[in-house]
Amino acid sequence: MGNEMRIVTKSSKDNYIFTDVVEVEGQETTILDITNLDAIRKIVFAKDIKAIVNCAAWTNVDGAEAPEKRELVELLNAKAPENLATAMKEVGGLLVHISTDYVFGGDPYNTPCKENQKGTPTGVYGLTKLHGEQNIQATGANYLIFRTAWLYSEFGKNFVKTMLNLTSTKPLLKVVFDQVGTPTYAYDLAKAIFDIIENRKYENKTGIYHYSNEGVCSWYDFTKMIAEYAGNTACDIQPCHSDEFPSPVKRPAFSVLDKTKVKETFGVKVPYWTESLMKCMNNLKKA
Ligand SMILES: NC(=O)c1ccc[n+]([C@@H]2O[C@H](COP(=O)([O-])OP(=O)(O)OC[C@H]3O[C@@H](n4cnc5c(N)ncnc54)[C@H](OP(=O)(O)O)[C@@H]3O)[C@@H](O)[C@H]2O)c1
Repeated sequence: MGNEMRIVTKSSKDNYIFTDVVEVEGQETTILDITNLDAIRKIVFAKDIKAIVNCAAWTNVDGAEAPEKRELVELLNAKAPENLATAMKEVGGLLVHISTDYVFGGDPYNTPCKENQKGTPTGVYGLTKLHGEQNIQATGANYLIFRTAWLYSEFGKNFVKTMLNLTSTKPLLKVVFDQVGTPTYAYDLAKAIFDIIENRKYENKTGIYHYSNEGVCSWYDFTKMIAEYAGNTACDIQPCHSDEFPSPVKRPAFSVLDKTKVKETFGVKVPYWTESLMKCMNNLKKA
């Protein structure tokens, strides 16, 4: 997500700086550990920061369940966003934060989920992300929280890149068809956020917003489309049930986000998931 923000902000009239906890190869990066409030304050003051887009998080859903990691996951997913919101509150700035459909799942639902639905996480990742949302709200800062789902891009490790590899190397692949949601091309979300900031659409719009691509599919359908676009026709892709892949965290069977609010509030145009998937795969081919 952070890498996509780097791309979309290149044309900005504003000055963006990019931070990470470690040096990023080939990219201009300011080192910042967002668990350190004083370090955030120093950068906000020195660079006269008016808005922060927080793409950092603990994102390993199963790894978050390890008891020895729990404190660190809470620190990164709950305390760090609070730190960023506190720093923005102090200077009258804006925090844009990314959250997740994993704040839901405990109470199964079967219609697209709205922003005011009660959070019922099923694991540590979702719970700490929910805490992060609540901590941001408690600071009284101006904020936009975008809950997204099934994020992929040309960068890092993600489902699209994994399935591209597996469908080109394996003769047979089983993928779950009993979990349904919507993929999100991180570039699309980054562009929506950039448009809101660049055009100052955020004034008096503090709140939580849902953003994924349009449409609905299962992980099986997603994989079929990835393989089709890649021309990986030799792989026999079979639908299977989630219990064939036991995992420490129960995934929601249906996790489609309702995007009415983000579209009506900001005039965001949300691309259909297959169109965005094709764009991402074309970019991967060029890379
Ligand atoms: N991936 C998904 O499917 C998905 C779905 C819904 C919502 N989200 C949310 O979307 C956001 C972006 O996800 P992503 O997949 O782009 O995440 P990602 O690839 O895992 O990137 C997270 C970044 O946070 C950095 N980070 C870790 N600890 C830090 C610290 N103390 N201070 C500063 N930076 C730190 C990481 O650096 P290192 O790499 O050096 O550790 C990494 O660059 C997250 O908030 C995530 O919860 C993701």
